[in-house]
Amino acid sequence: MKEIRVSPVFVNKVRNVRNFQVMLDALMLSAGEGRLAAVVGPAGRGKTRTAQWYAANNGCAFVRCLSIWRHSELGFLQALCRELGVKEVHHRKNPAFLAVMDALNKQEGRPVFIEEIEKLPRLHLELVRDLSDLSSAPFVLIGEEELEGHLKPIRRMWNRCFQLLQFEALDVADTMVFVQAASGLNLPGDVADLLHQSAAGCFRVIKRDLQNLANIMNAKRAAAPTLEMAKLAIKQSLRG
Ligand SMILES: Nc1ncnc2c1ncn2[C@@H]1O[C@H](COP(=O)(O)OP(=O)(O)O)[C@@H](O)[C@H]1O
Ligand SMILES: [Mg+2]
Repeated sequence: MKEIRVSPVFVNKVRNVRNFQVMLDALMLSAGEGRLAAVVGPAGRGKTRTAQWYAANNGCAFVRCLSIWRHSELGFLQALCRELGVKEVHHRKNPAFLAVMDALNKQEGRPVFIEEIEKLPRLHLELVRDLSDLSSAPFVLIGEEELEGHLKPIRRMWNRCFQLLQFEALDVADTMVFVQAASGLNLPGDVADLLHQSAAGCFRVIKRDLQNLANIMNAKRAAAPTLEMAKLAIKQSLRG
């Protein structure tokens, strides 16, 4: 009996990832100033992993905002500099801003990903707007539901926002595709339904339940998962 292993593969054949790619393709095609997009949705649906996967494959900058930057935009600008490969460290805002602009103009319209900007005061968002206005680089903001509220009052920015992509709950087909890719298991319909329902569309929960299910199957030397095993896997997650 072959042991079932869960590997940390990235699965791009799920709906949210496909929508993400479509949005990025469209964003790249729309030439001109001030290109912005936002990706929102509850925790656990794969926003960060998807953006990091895209950024890694396309050589894009990815900055996760830190709350220690809330008192000054310098830390944020320095992080952008680092991500954009600026060698010199600038200790004042103006030169740091100019260095970011310079680097953006050199990177041929590749998108820049910024996560959790809603944790910072609006000034930081204004800064992103200026950078996107003045350079040709598209910016993609990634956050949870509060990001949408954070963007709305800035009407000018909101109007230009190219697109808002909502990361939806995973559906049953996504669940099956993910389980197949991560573990090689082809889930029977009832098991897929149960895993999908109990995870409420959250990737993180499905991953944890799948690991438990694989452990149970390995302990029992079972070739195929049953509904009973899936129930036990879910119960273990709830306890853990
Ligand atoms: N397309 C995917 N393929 C495989 N694993 C994924 C995928 N998307 C997300 N995950 C995994 O699901 C979990 C939650 O993803 P994450 O990107 O942190 O969600 P969010 O940023 O929406 O809170 C992480 O463990 C991540 O590795
Ligand atoms: Mg995240």
